[in-house]
Parts: sequence; structure tokens; C-alpha cells
Amino acid sequence: MTSNQSLFERAQRVIPGGVNSPVRAFRAVGGTPRFIARAQGPYMWDAEGTRYIDYIGSWGPMILGHGHPAVLDAVQKAALDGFSFGAPTEREVELAEEIIRHVPSVEQVRLVSSGTEAGMSAIRLARGATGRSKIVKFEGCYHGHADALLVKAGSGLATFGFPTSAGVPPEVVQHTLVLEYNNLEQIEEVFKTQGDEIACVMIEPIAGNMNFVRAQVPFVKRIAELCQQHGALFVFDEVMTGFRVALGGAQSVYAKLIPGFQPDISVFGKVIGGGMPLAAFGTSRKIMQQLAPLGPVYQAGTLSGNPVATACGLATLKLISQPGFYDTLGAKTQAVVDGLTAAARAAGVPFVGDSQGGMFGFFFTDSLPQNYGVVMATDKDRFNRFFHGMLERGVYLAPALYEAGFVSAAHTDADIAATIAAAHDVMATLHSA
Ligand SMILES: Cc1ncc(COP(=O)(O)O)c(C=O)c1O
Repeated sequence: MTSNQSLFERAQRVIPGGVNSPVRAFRAVGGTPRFIARAQGPYMWDAEGTRYIDYIGSWGPMILGHGHPAVLDAVQKAALDGFSFGAPTEREVELAEEIIRHVPSVEQVRLVSSGTEAGMSAIRLARGATGRSKIVKFEGCYHGHADALLVKAGSGLATFGFPTSAGVPPEVVQHTLVLEYNNLEQIEEVFKTQGDEIACVMIEPIAGNMNFVRAQVPFVKRIAELCQQHGALFVFDEVMTGFRVALGGAQSVYAKLIPGFQPDISVFGKVIGGGMPLAAFGTSRKIMQQLAPLGPVYQAGTLSGNPVATACGLATLKLISQPGFYDTLGAKTQAVVDGLTAAARAAGVPFVGDSQGGMFGFFFTDSLPQNYGVVMATDKDRFNRFFHGMLERGVYLAPALYEAGFVSAAHTDADIAATIAAAHDVMATLHSA
């Protein structure tokens, strides 16, 4: 049997950092990444045969757990019919219809292969439709690794940001404004001074890339008003939250709190592909007509709407749209958060958590952070020790304090109880940080 360590060493010889996406390398928490050999239901097994209760679910897609029989069956049948045609298929139409059925703000979608591609295309569409260049994003929100989005705030509100990655020329981010999440004054100020130049405001409505931080209701409401007043488009990046926090995504959660609320453009990924490379962006028919082949905004993809991926996504959406699915999932997820909180309390460790649907987060601090700066100031050392303690006890949490967690429909009460029991053990060791 090959060990995780020897695989990691081998991987590092041929793949930079040994991984194909940076957070997998365990750099934030230290230690050796687990090389996963297989997964089933709520569990993953590593190369050494060790079993883990999985709370990342491929970073969100595996909402039914791994290897659901109905999804496997759909994928196997689709694969027999062909992997990829480069021509339209009925399943693409069905998947588009299914997404639109659950998300009333969306009249048409275009299917792509990754969240990055979907976010990047949504911005191009917003710019093309408005004829404007500037975009607003918020610190701590991740919308994929498109050049214009790898940017941190400049020195002042009116200034453009700086690239956060080498290889991104400053000119490429000169139209990207980066503001603090949940900061009403900043968004007011930016619209006051530059509102008529802004193509779109893009947000993770419940941010899962700075652990778990909700956009405050008045913040979302005001951005929607400002966008409308100034002819800018409000883009909800629901790559993580879409079909994960509720069947209608985070926008359905906000629509309950803000009467009549709808974002202008929505971006999806993760759950809609059920673990296969599939993502989408969508909006009104009128704006979508701007896309090639109908309009001047170019966008394309060899594997877009892939027949095996759409089969996987459709089978997943069918199962999660059954009545009561999100009530049960939400209760399970909150039970994890409550159990971790109780374990921390019992050990006298400062701790706070939150959840919505099948997505959750927690922090080693006293109150829920409202923006990236506060998230990053929470107790990293305690988080890292907690992460490793849980991993040693067979519980696989996200390996960085700025990532969200995910529960699937396959997690049983016994899995959750085992997780909480492990948390009690580990929290007891964290008291004297
Ligand atoms: C909110 C959000 N947007 C976009 C992306 C990018 O998606 P992908 O990794 O599929 O390119 C992610 C990935 O985690 C995400 O969480």
C-alpha cells in the first residue's frame, strides 16, 4: 500500500506543490495532505485505508454524499452513449430548464465547465450589456481565478486594486474596485462618485471563501437599490451557495427577507454538476441575448454542457428537489454546528458557528465575523490544532480557517454524534492555547 507521504513526495516531483488546486496542499494547516482513494456516502478513504467523515464534499458539490446509486446509474448510462459530442443535446436543455425552474430571477442560462469560467463570463456579459468597464467586488469573496478578480483593495476607496497574483498585469485590474464586505458606507461612497461607470457588483451572498460570513440583509438590499438607480447589474455568485443553502440558492433566502429581491445575474457551479465539471451563469432573456451567437459578447467551450456532466447534474437536482430535502439537510448541518459549539463551551474555548442549508462555518472567537479582516484575525493556531485533532480522529474538515464546511444528505445521526464526540476530545486539548 502506498502512503500519503510517499504519494505526496511523488506528486511534488511532477505537479507544483503536489496538488492541482492550492488549498489541497494543507499549507494553511501544515502536515501531509491525504490522498483520497475512494469515497462512499459521507465517507472518504485515503491511500492508507483510513476512513474519514467528509465535511468538505469536494468543496460543495457532493450534497447527496458520494456515489449515490441514482446518480451513478445516470452517469453510467450517459457514458455508454458517449463522452462528448461538441453538438447540442437534450440533457443540456433539461438541465437549463431545471435550473430556471428553481431560480425565478433566471430566464436563460449558459452552461460552462467551471465556476471560474462562469464568473468570468458573467462579468464579460455585464460589461457587454452595460457598455461599462468598472466592476466592484468584496474582500474575502472568491469568484474564481480570472485575472480581473485576483485583486486586493487599493490605498483608498476611489483607487483601483493591486493584483494578488504574479502574472496579472496592473492594467488588467485597473477596473476592479475592492470594498469591505458588509460595509455600507463604502458601497454608498463608491456609487456616489463612480456609480455611472460601474458595470456590476459581484458578491458571494453567503461568503464561503472566508469561512462562512453572511452578507447583512440591509447591505444586500442597498446594493440592489444602488445598482438599479445607477444602471449597474448585481451579480450573485452562487457557485457555492446555489442549490446548497436552499433549493433556490442564497437569493431565495434573501428574497424572504427583502420583498421582491432578485439579483440581476446569477452564477452557479458545484452542486449543479453533482461532482462533475459543470457550471452556469444566467439572467434575463434580454441580457442573455447579448451572448454569441445572438449578440456581441463572445463566450464558448469545447466541453460546455458535457453529456456525462449534465446527466450527473440532472440526477442530483432531481433528488435534491424532493420536498423536505433542505429541511432535513439544514437540521443535520445545524446539529453539527450546535454539537461543535457545545463541545467548545464544555472546554471553555471561545467558539461561534453558523449554518444555512447544507453549508456551515465556525470560528475560534466570540462573535460571528462580518468581514475578511475579522475572519483572518481569529485564532489560527487553535483552528489548526482543532483541524489536526479532528483529522486524527477520522473527521475531515476544511484544511484552512477561511473555508466553509459542507454536510451531505448521506451523513447519519451516528456520523454527526461521532464528529461531536471527537470534538469534545479535541476541544479539551485546546483550552490552554
Ligand atoms: C463562490 C465561488 N465562486 C467561484 C468559484 C470558482 O469555481 P471553480 O473552482 O469551479 O472554478 C468558487 C470555487 O470554490 C467559489 O466558491
